[in-house]
Formats: sequence, C-alpha cells, structure tokens
Amino acid sequence: MSPYSRITGTGSFLPERRLTNADLAAELAASGVVTSDDWIVERTGIRARHFAAPSVCSSDLGFEAARKALQAANLQAQDIDLIIVATSTPDMVFPSTACIVQNRLGAHGSAAFDVQAVCSGFIYALTVADAMIKTGAASKALVIGAEVFSRLLDFKDRTTCVLFGDGAGAVVLEASDTPGILASDLHADGKHVGILCVPGHVSGGKVLGDPVLKMDGKAVFKLAVGVLDEAARATLAKAGKVAADIDWLVPHQANIRIMHSAAKKLKLPMDKVVVTVDQHGNTSAASIPLALDGAVRSGKIKPGQLLMLEGVGGGFTWGAVLLHL
Ligand code: UT7
Repeated sequence: MSPYSRITGTGSFLPERRLTNADLAAELAASGVVTSDDWIVERTGIRARHFAAPSVCSSDLGFEAARKALQAANLQAQDIDLIIVATSTPDMVFPSTACIVQNRLGAHGSAAFDVQAVCSGFIYALTVADAMIKTGAASKALVIGAEVFSRLLDFKDRTTCVLFGDGAGAVVLEASDTPGILASDLHADGKHVGILCVPGHVSGGKVLGDPVLKMDGKAVFKLAVGVLDEAARATLAKAGKVAADIDWLVPHQANIRIMHSAAKKLKLPMDKVVVTVDQHGNTSAASIPLALDGAVRSGKIKPGQLLMLEGVGGGFTWGAVLLHL
C-alpha cells in the first residue's frame, strides 16, 4: 500500500469535425435560430467546438484519450487495475462505458465502472481513484472523462446549444511514495436538480420525458462562482496550502467569465489559469482532463508544479483536487 497517488501520464482526444461559432451560427440560421460569433465569444469565451460523427460514442473518444495517457505513462493496458469513466453520455444504459473502454484497450480483469456527476465527474472520479489507490484497492488507474454532449442538445434552444461540445481526456494515476494528490473536496446539493438537467429516461422500450439539455444559465452561473471558491479554499486548507502556492488553476471549461471570477476570488492572475474553453466549448466531464493534457503537452505545466483542479455541474455537484504533477 502506498501513501499517495500521482498522475504519471495524460492524454486527450477531440473528434475531427470542428465548428467555429460562425459555422454553427450559419447552421442554426437555416432553422431560424439566431446567434452570432460576437455574442458567444463575449458571454462565454467559446470560439469553436468539436462534434463527433453519429457513429462515434463516448467510449471511442475515451479510448483514444486513454491510449495517449498510457503511452505518456509508459504503461501497457494490462498494467491497469482500475478504470473509471466520468460521463453523462454513456454509450448504453448498461454496461458501463468503462467496461467498453476496458475491452477496447485489452485491460481485461481490471475493475471498471462509470461515475455520473455531470461536469464535476472528472473531479469525482479522480477522488475515488485516489482513495482506492491509498487503501490498496488499486495501484494503477485510468481516470477518463468522455462525452458526446452534442447528442443531448436542443438545436432550437440558442441559450444552450452554442455552449457544449464533444471530447475526452484521461490521466493515469499510480500509487506513489511521493505526494501527488494532496487533498480533495466533493459536494452535491440535490435541491438544484432542475437548474441543469436532461429530464428523460428509458421505460418500456421508449424514451419518456424530454431527453435534451435544460439549463437556467443565470442560476448555474451564480451558484458556480460561489461553490468553486468554497471547494478550492477547503482543499487548500486540508493540504495546509494557500492560494498563492498554486502554480496553475485548471478549472472546468464552461465559461471564461466563471474562470475569471474563480481566479479573482483566489487572487490569482489569469496567466496562472489554464484556458481551453475557446477551443472546444463545454465538454462536461471531459473538460478538465482536456485542459490539463493540453497544458502538459505544450510544456506550460511542468512536473512538480502545484495544480488546483476544480469542477462544477448538474446535480448540483462541485469539487476540487489539489495535486503536485
Ligand atoms: O457546466 C456548467 C454548465 N453551465 C454553465 O456554465 C452556464 C453558466 N451560465 C452562463 O454561462 C450564462 O448564463 C450564459 C452564457 C448561458 C448566458 O449568458 P447571460 O449573460 O446570462 O445571458 P442571458 O441569459 O441573460 O441572455 C442575454 C440575452 C437574452 O436576450 P434579451 O432577453 O436580453 O433580449 C437572450 O435571449 O442574450 C440572448 N441570447 C442569445 N443571443 C444570441 C441567449 N443566447 C443567445 C445566443 N445568441 N446563443
């Protein structure tokens, strides 16, 4: 049993089809929905998103991200004894997307399950993997966030359909004698279920309810800025650190204005915040590992640096993880 878990590899994957705001605005205009690049950039910071082809599922995106993370960690799939996929867009009702990814990787025999915490899913999954490694239940884990959120969008609702995209990110988390993950903090408050949800379900061979994304954007925005700050501060306190110790804030990539607010509350300059929302929009559980992998591969984030990962999403759920890379 090791006292710590540590990220030893990262990977990510975006589907090929990229739509700029102008591309999306032109497509929406054909069905009478009016939006613009200016509006989307000003209110969200998003400039483009990727949409998966109809035959591509979360497991396909997660598999590609996982493959790259394994390569970066210098591991083979057979070395992995735990796979957790954070997703709200699983391939099937069951089995889990994690089992489908496991089969494609050839990591047969490892534990594999999905975590459903919407946009906080990666933070939840990373915390669960860390706890399992620290108790000796696992030693080498793949933690994946994978989403095809485009499948949940109502393209007649301009207040939501311009915000989201598809993608996946992954990390390899290994047992370690030196500190990687220092502390985490998870929360949920189910009284806010209705402000961000896809209120449909399968019953008797039919989809009942309305299986497209509904969001009260203003309510989500207001809650998000408060709880992200609380989670970040609680995590710092647990680790005996202060905000000024943070080298990089890696927030959920939903809206640049939420990120500005999170950084301001922690008194961190924006050049310590990893921002990729402009490139892929809100990819829910995939957004944090996508941002992390981009910053690691570009050399922005360096080994040993202190990172604050923080997420917030439907449920309402939120949380943060403080770690040394
Ligand atoms: O993972 C968590 C996921 N969710 C979030 O992070 C969302 C958090 N919330 C937000 O990011 C923001 O609330 C939004 C980006 C969704 C909306 O920004 P806002 O500044 O709260 O805009 P608003 O809803 O107050 O809308 C302002 C105006 C409205 O027009 P009127 O009533 O002022 O005439 C909207 O109808 O903007 C209009 N509008 C649009 N215009 C062009 C709304 N969506 C669009 C659009 N294009 N796509």
